Amino acid sequence: MDQNELKRQVAQAALAYVEPGTVLGVGTGSTVDLFIEALAASGMELAGTVSSSERSTQALTAAGFKVLEAAAVERLSTYIDGADEIDPMGHMIKGGGAALTREKIVADLADRFVCIADASKCVDVLGRFPLPVEIIPMAAPQLIRRFAQLGGQAQVRPGCVTDNGQLILDVRGLSIADPLAVEAEVSQWPGVVTVGIFARHRARVALIGTPDGVRTLKF
Ligand code: A5P
Repeated sequence: MDQNELKRQVAQAALAYVEPGTVLGVGTGSTVDLFIEALAASGMELAGTVSSSERSTQALTAAGFKVLEAAAVERLSTYIDGADEIDPMGHMIKGGGAALTREKIVADLADRFVCIADASKCVDVLGRFPLPVEIIPMAAPQLIRRFAQLGGQAQVRPGCVTDNGQLILDVRGLSIADPLAVEAEVSQWPGVVTVGIFARHRARVALIGTPDGVRTLKF
């Protein structure tokens, strides 16, 4: 079964976590694109959505869903999004699509993060996937040096400007055994907008696509 089919399965399974008539938080990425398709095909009615990127806003609008400003919403019951990696505690690396800052903002509004991912995203320890960090451009050289002190090789992602007009550093070579500690440390470095470790905002439910069907993990 190809990876796209596994993503399609979890996108479909995520519909069970959507409460009709509510406002839903919607993430970004190829798995979420399939989820938006499945949501539209289900005919389910929502009071609205809050989107984590221009890309998802366009897809939601095209599918006929109302997209509300995050600033206008006090609380969401559920946020559905993909991940680049997820560990056995539900900690994730996100930001492969450069949408990590808005993803963390919308996740912070939600009571429950439902992660949808194919099994290739499951790891024992985060860090095989280069860690995305959104940064203010003038801080890039100093942040590259700081990551080197942690044993990571950071590089500005070529040709990438985020929805917030900032840059992404991709950091290779980190083994993130304590995601909460690394998230807290890197988040306070001057010039860091958002680090793509989602430990404080970890998944509460993960729907993992495997060739044997969708595996549901609760954290
Ligand atoms: C977007 O910035 C990311 O956090 C995505 O959620 C993540 O990269 C997963 O993307 P796919 O669903 O395309 O694998």
